Amino acid sequence: MAKIAFLGAGAMGQAMVPNLLRGGHSVCVYNRSIDKARLLEPAGATVAPTIAEAVNGVDAVFSMVIDDNASRDVWTGPGGVLDSAAPGTLAVESSTVSNKWLRELGGHAAAKGLRFLDCPVAGRPDAAAAATLVVYVGGKPEDVEAVRPMLEPMSRRIIHFGPVGTGNAFKLIYNVLGAVQVAALAESMNACEAAGIDLNAAADAFSDGNTGSPHVKRHSRSMATGEHDNPIGFTPHGRLKDTLYGCQYQEQIGGQAKLGYAAAALFQQMIDIGWGERNDSEAIDGLREETRRRNARQ
Ligand SMILES: NC(=O)c1ccc[n+]([C@@H]2O[C@H](COP(=O)([O-])OP(=O)(O)OC[C@H]3O[C@@H](n4cnc5c(N)ncnc54)[C@H](OP(=O)(O)O)[C@@H]3O)[C@@H](O)[C@H]2O)c1
Repeated sequence: MAKIAFLGAGAMGQAMVPNLLRGGHSVCVYNRSIDKARLLEPAGATVAPTIAEAVNGVDAVFSMVIDDNASRDVWTGPGGVLDSAAPGTLAVESSTVSNKWLRELGGHAAAKGLRFLDCPVAGRPDAAAAATLVVYVGGKPEDVEAVRPMLEPMSRRIIHFGPVGTGNAFKLIYNVLGAVQVAALAESMNACEAAGIDLNAAADAFSDGNTGSPHVKRHSRSMATGEHDNPIGFTPHGRLKDTLYGCQYQEQIGGQAKLGYAAAALFQQMIDIGWGERNDSEAIDGLREETRRRNARQ
């Protein structure tokens, strides 16, 4: 069983660490604000006040923080992992970060002799708690095999796409498709409302039809009833970050991202009206609010 340093005790870290512990691994948690790390002590984790202490003597370091800036801070910032981890340590970036930064980080980590992998995950905190995440992996085959026993207790499926950067690439493209589905559903449910169609009936019919993806099944119900995930599953801020990383990546590699940018605009609109920390399924309320404000101006 492995000794693991886990950096980031946010919504995902809180749900992932107990499964690593249940899998028999020992886990030392570091979080920028230490109080959140301490919430994992009852599950059996130890807590380190610094990254250097967390990574001392471990087999693997996992990072699960919010974005590029946070990832930079924990890996390459002063006192970060690259200053303190021993060569040969498995270095796993599970956060959803831009592909540009991920590849740069992979280069820095390799130069320090670390065995770097990108292992972003699909699934909300409830899926993480239920150990049903899907992990998208990029890395050398021998490093993937070394990290597999640590990924297995947290996930229902592990997909190795290829070398470093490919797990992140797939995750970013996947996120754009997910964001487009949520935004398009909000627009469709809003249109049903304007057409006088009962929203519960609409949610049933969308879910039962060819449109019935897991996003549509889950979010159409919330949009119809007004009962959204509690605690919040994923915020407009998170959606916007993921969608823009994905759109920028798709353009960078010569693809298009018109629908992705349209979805991003809806999440930006929610942030602009002060709803950035609500649940993403409240996108329908964002559209209702926009209509209300437009009508008030006329
Ligand atoms: N939530 C989801 O449904 C979901 C699903 C799949 C993937 N993800 C991805 O998983 C990652 C974590 O998401 P989450 O939902 O756990 O986010 P979260 O609850 O907002 O937690 C964010 C974490 O990042 C840390 N952080 C932020 N800025 C930092 C900085 N500058 N330096 C060091 N640490 C910093 C926070 O530390 P503090 O506590 O000190 O602020 C916290 O530990 C993200 O990349 C997200 O896109 C999320």
